[in-house]
Amino acid sequence: MARTPYIAANWKMNKTVAEAAEFVDALLPRIAATQHDVVVCPPFTALHEVVERRRGTAVRVAAQNMHEAESGAFTGEVSAPMLVELDVEAVVLGHSERRQFFGETDAALARKVPAALAHDLEPILCVGESEEGRDAGETETVLERQLQADLAEVADADLPRVVIAYEPIWAIGTGKVATPEQAQEACAFIRDVLRGRGAAADEVRILYGGSVKPDNAAELLALPDVDGALVGGASLDAEDFAAIVEAAG
Ligand code: PGA
Repeated sequence: MARTPYIAANWKMNKTVAEAAEFVDALLPRIAATQHDVVVCPPFTALHEVVERRRGTAVRVAAQNMHEAESGAFTGEVSAPMLVELDVEAVVLGHSERRQFFGETDAALARKVPAALAHDLEPILCVGESEEGRDAGETETVLERQLQADLAEVADADLPRVVIAYEPIWAIGTGKVATPEQAQEACAFIRDVLRGRGAAADEVRILYGGSVKPDNAAELLALPDVDGALVGGASLDAEDFAAIVEAAG
């Protein structure tokens, strides 16, 4: 089954509106011919600018988080209808930095993923083990637990609408990229878990994230169960990010 490669730029808490505009202007000519799904995930403040600048191009825009409620007394939060109003198309959910530093729980994710789908926002759900987890041989246990919990309220038929990002925490921002064997093994395992739920698992895009760079992207993206990349540090530079998009074939 041919899955369209999916390459996403997770800027995290980087880029002002002016810097975001500069990036988009530099990126667009470099990826004009791509057939891949190219997704940019700016901070909330730059969403509008990126959405407007990429109009008429293949670039799609994702937020980095969202609250599951449509509105309410949740100071500092942003909801799905607010993102949809801006023409944002996707949302990163459950990034390990949110789990680690901001108390994001599997219980909240079990509400956020269906809330995103209900508003036609494509969830990019992040899962991944810690270094201790891997050393203790618990990678598969952790992945299975996160997937089952975070997707508990998603109908099996809707699972292909979710993009999964496998991001081993020890590889994020460390320069310590997973080996092709580790990335393939974990992404294949994730597909098996989804298949076990009765999903059309061959349709689900599964990304690898963690120290993806222009010089290691081609090898990772060629793996049979790795359908794309969620890129942090290297996505801040338009030339580097375009090179990763190109490395997807
Ligand atoms: P990195 O981040 O590419 O800087 O390791 C990846 C991510 O956190 O999505």
